[in-house]
Amino acid sequence: MKFLLLSLLASTASSFTLLPPPSPLSLPLKSMQPDNTDFDFSPTSGPEPALIINNAAGVWVPQRTRPRRNRKSQAIRSMVKENLVTPANFIYPLFIHEENYCQDIESMPGCERHSLEHMLVEVEEAMRYGVKTFVLFPKVADELKTNYGVEAYNPNGIVPRAVSLIKSKFPEATVCTDVALDPYSDQGHDGVVEDGKILNDVTINQLCKQVICQARAGADVVAPSDMMDGRVGAIRDALDSEGFTDVSILAYTAKYASAYYGPFRDALDSHPGFGDKKTYQQDPSNGREALIEALLDEAEGADMLMVKPGMPYLDIIRRLKDNSNLPIAAYHVSGEYSMLKAAVEKGWLNEKDVVLETLTCFKRAGADIILTYYAKQAAKWMAEDGLY
Ligand code: PBG
Repeated sequence: MKFLLLSLLASTASSFTLLPPPSPLSLPLKSMQPDNTDFDFSPTSGPEPALIINNAAGVWVPQRTRPRRNRKSQAIRSMVKENLVTPANFIYPLFIHEENYCQDIESMPGCERHSLEHMLVEVEEAMRYGVKTFVLFPKVADELKTNYGVEAYNPNGIVPRAVSLIKSKFPEATVCTDVALDPYSDQGHDGVVEDGKILNDVTINQLCKQVICQARAGADVVAPSDMMDGRVGAIRDALDSEGFTDVSILAYTAKYASAYYGPFRDALDSHPGFGDKKTYQQDPSNGREALIEALLDEAEGADMLMVKPGMPYLDIIRRLKDNSNLPIAAYHVSGEYSMLKAAVEKGWLNEKDVVLETLTCFKRAGADIILTYYAKQAAKWMAEDGLY
């Protein structure tokens, strides 16, 4: 066998080396010719040359398949592109507060807590670049925070007012709301606390009131980010029983107990009052567990499944994509945004290139929808470059 292989190799090699010399008329471009004069080793010379010379007197690494042919021009690269992100894929998260000015968020340069008036300006601008979907995150005054998070279902609270403002000014915008108690909790947790524990079912009772309040204000999509067991089904039933059968549920299906949420919690002043969120958010070590959550959310009536954070969890996005026929969303979270911004500010990364690459990678991993603080900026870059 070994002998056969060797002789086969030998015969192939000789059939290449014994080719007739090129005719002077078909001399190749100068750049194809081997330059064998500048070093004491020539890959095309000697009794066993590593590389050979073709009919056109050029260096040849014999091979039929050359993947670079499909990359040779912008036109061909565009033709064979497997994944294309467009602004229609984006959901733009907006921080809002009751003040009449906008407040910079130190750990998220370029993001701000908008006044309700400026929120409308931001929505209008983003819509001009093709971003049509928004998700709202409120900063709530400390005096309104309670353990039961009752402000979450105050019909005159900041979120219901913001939703109806956007919907009345821009009926074609899609407005998503976050469903969880943390912005309204004096414990800094996503649920009701008793004896240091986060109560599952009591919290869901509150979340059902929160979604009805949001739906009445005109929310198109509600996005439970609380990670209580059974909340998707309960929220679906609450919505349906009140006639909101058209309101969609974007479930934070695989939401991890992540250190990447730090800047978001700065933005909303919503750091946990005690402990951490590990009894309800998933352990970053676990991949299969995301599939348990996905099966449940799907069975309970979720319309879309989200993975959060994004970049460090691309494998989870892919697993969900391969195991569900529902659209998959990825949340490119605050800490990921801040990391990019910090490197860009240092001059270490090219912002536009790294952001557009990052967003495309979400698509390639299987995300149909991308929540990103870069939504408006990325859509603007795409428009400027004629990318869609
Ligand atoms: C809270 C919520 C969080 C984020 C979205 N909704 C923070 C948390 O769970 O503590 C994080 C988003 C981000 O970091 O960009 N329910």
